[in-house]
Amino acid sequence: MSLQLGDTVPDFTQASSMGEISFHEWIGDSWAILFSHPADYTPVCTTELGAVARLKSEFEKRNVKVIALSVDDVESHQGWIKDINETQNTTVNYPILADGDRKVSDLYGMIHPNSLATLTVRSVFIIDPAKKLRLTLTYPASTGRNFAEILRVIDSLQLTDNYQVATPVNWKDGEDCVIVPSIKDPAELKQKFPKGYTEVKSYLRMTPQPNR
Ligand code: BEZ
Repeated sequence: MSLQLGDTVPDFTQASSMGEISFHEWIGDSWAILFSHPADYTPVCTTELGAVARLKSEFEKRNVKVIALSVDDVESHQGWIKDINETQNTTVNYPILADGDRKVSDLYGMIHPNSLATLTVRSVFIIDPAKKLRLTLTYPASTGRNFAEILRVIDSLQLTDNYQVATPVNWKDGEDCVIVPSIKDPAELKQKFPKGYTEVKSYLRMTPQPNR
């Protein structure tokens, strides 16, 4: 069965462009984004990996480690990283797993044979410090992902974990949030949301973003 939200993600040890990685140990107390791409030396992937490198400070601010994967080997990754650095005005500053034996791709269901026979599709896994799966995305090979959206989801997940708010449609950092339905006690509402809240309906309570 495929991985589901809330599952503990599978651990593995695999080679990477920065040496062997034991995944759970590598995550440590951070959040993690594991993302796969179809192959080295491909155009869309080149732009994606460059964009992720340029977002380094955004990931660090959120205590997130990033790690890419493709089914090519370490030597291929090393050569391709030089091209990414050269063409995308950046320095790739995170590991790329070399999953030549498909160990990780199979564990995480990253190969969708009816789409791409032996290559990984564009999967994204957001994993929290408890190693629980918090988001999955699957994009086709021909569509580059939007990493601003992935950062937005991290912000939303961390707000939920830290402040018991959810985020409404098209929410952007700084906008009002939704109080989770499980909080009903007026004293608790007052204590947890000192900026106040607006009750649009009994089940729809909006509050200013708590960490702003
Ligand atoms: C790319 O990364 O550019 C790509 C890879 C596989 C199929 C189509 C595009």
